[in-house]
Amino acid sequence: MNPVDWKHRDGAVRSDRPFPLGMGWDVAGVVRATVPGGPAVGEAVYGMLPLPYGGAYQDLAALPASAVAPKPARLSYAEAAAVPLAALTAWQALHAADIAAGRRVLVHAGAGGVGHFAVQFARHLGAHVTATASARNLGFLHRIGVDEPVDRATPDLTRAAPFDIILDTVGGPVQHASWQLLRPGGTLITLPEPVDEAYRLPGIAGRRVIVTPDGEALRRIGSLIDSGAVHVEVQAVLPLEQAAEAHRISKEGRVRGKLALSL
Ligand SMILES: NC(=O)c1ccc[n+]([C@@H]2O[C@H](COP(=O)([O-])OP(=O)(O)OC[C@H]3O[C@@H](n4cnc5c(N)ncnc54)[C@H](OP(=O)(O)O)[C@@H]3O)[C@@H](O)[C@H]2O)c1
Repeated sequence: MNPVDWKHRDGAVRSDRPFPLGMGWDVAGVVRATVPGGPAVGEAVYGMLPLPYGGAYQDLAALPASAVAPKPARLSYAEAAAVPLAALTAWQALHAADIAAGRRVLVHAGAGGVGHFAVQFARHLGAHVTATASARNLGFLHRIGVDEPVDRATPDLTRAAPFDIILDTVGGPVQHASWQLLRPGGTLITLPEPVDEAYRLPGIAGRRVIVTPDGEALRRIGSLIDSGAVHVEVQAVLPLEQAAEAHRISKEGRVRGKLALSL
């Protein structure tokens, strides 16, 4: 599950699709039926349904063949289902910002679903990574390769600045403060909300990225997971009947890595 699930449920995300709205966008499972050129019946796959057409909280889900990839072998189904939307968001956000070796990257909420993938992808690509988290997650940030973990209660980010790339996974004041931490020519990628134009600074690129399904990227991400280069942190797996409880926990904003739902 992802925060976008309860945001839809709360009516905070506009959708043109009439109710009832299928809930959930991440799946992992076994292919029951397929199309020519698609994965084989019986194959273990994972993937992301296109927004806004959800429908992962059910026994069977239909999604484009281009949106799935082989399930990473070292992950359970529940762990694999924790990957697609968050990992694709991190992947697409970093590439939208022209991530490259040597770049100085700041990831806000580095212990969250998107954040923990972003720091590991950025490290794998040779960037120097700073990330924020609460004090209890600083050790976790170290373990997943963050060069400079910063306590978000006392953020001394100016010491690590200027950055080439900032991923804002929090929004509001975090987005507003980020512009001042970027070098000229740097890039701010916002995820929860659009760029607040009142804070934009000249000479710095800034835009929102909206995640899209991408089976090919999931294939590459799966290889990184299977090789051990990327760790998938799953705080808890709850039965589907406890989806409302999972939403409640997610809404508190303190999940380390991901929550997953299992049938
Ligand atoms: N645009 C898109 O396509 C897209 C895609 C995916 C997600 N999103 C959005 O991006 C946001 C993050 O998603 P997610 O799945 O990563 O969420 P998440 O896993 O629920 O994030 C939880 C993490 O946020 C951290 N956190 C909470 N408040 C914070 C603050 N004020 N400053 C720094 N860290 C804070 C917490 O870390 P600590 O406990 O260590 O503080 C926790 O580990 C959500 O709003 C989501 O809807 C957008």
